Amino acid sequence: MKKEYYKNSKNKIKLYQGDSIKILDELIKSKKIKFDCIFADPPYFLSNGGVSVKNGKRVSVNKGYWDKSKGIEKNFNFNLKWLSKCQKLLTNNGTIWISGTFHIIYSIAYIAEKLDMKFLNNIVWQKPNPPPNLSCRYFTHSTETILWLAKNKKSKHQFNYNYTKNINKNKQMKDVWTISSPKKIEKQFGKHPTQKPYKLLDIILNTSTSEGDYILDPFNGSGTTGVVSALKNRRYIGIEKEKKYCDLSIKNFENLERYPSSSK
Ligand SMILES: C[S@@+](CC[C@H](N)C(=O)[O-])C[C@H]1O[C@@H](n2cnc3c(N)ncnc32)[C@H](O)[C@@H]1O
Repeated sequence: MKKEYYKNSKNKIKLYQGDSIKILDELIKSKKIKFDCIFADPPYFLSNGGVSVKNGKRVSVNKGYWDKSKGIEKNFNFNLKWLSKCQKLLTNNGTIWISGTFHIIYSIAYIAEKLDMKFLNNIVWQKPNPPPNLSCRYFTHSTETILWLAKNKKSKHQFNYNYTKNINKNKQMKDVWTISSPKKIEKQFGKHPTQKPYKLLDIILNTSTSEGDYILDPFNGSGTTGVVSALKNRRYIGIEKEKKYCDLSIKNFENLERYPSSSK
């Protein structure tokens, strides 16, 4: 097994730098670990020269070469590879959450069906302040989809029902979640172009895991899943190809005290 790029025994975090396809294979071969929960935020294959708006200015949507489309077949095969490996790495009752826009999420749903996974929910993450649509030829894009899937049809997944009611004024929580983009404090040590908000992972991990559970994120980015895992006393393994995002994650992992104690 490749040596970790970063290991923090106190916060129970390990970060591997490299291609998740290879590292997922190594984790499978090592037979040491199965995960109770996986959060996967794969490339959306969106960075192909379009424009958007940020702080009132026209900006490129290009997020990095890792987000460039390689064509339908290659994108599909990449998604098939990482998702089938993640399925193998789940415990029998483990679940995976996958976020994406329409550019990839339908293709991923098809793959999940082929792998005979069990669909639990289709969460719509609604962003209250999305950038306006510059062309004025479409509705403003303001949502992402998060698929929640269990390993297979026999899985008895964990759902912390009382928690979900408690955060929703004692009512059953619906599958549309309105959550703002990451707060300033979450970007204190640097920016990642597709950083997920703390709040989103907080709901996901509190809903589907318990203290001490093993959590995996094969597309670690700025380390949001690891930050929330550590604050909630879970054990985390992240995989990230880009060294600069590994280094940003380490800063985020080493400064957990900036989150209010209510986050714990
Ligand atoms: C959509 S972002 C994840 C953002 C993350 N959820 C966060 O909150 O910061 C996807 C990340 O996956 C990384 N990535 C893309 N392809 C990869 C691969 N084959 N192996 C490992 N990491 C990869 C990119 O560098 C990028 O940081």
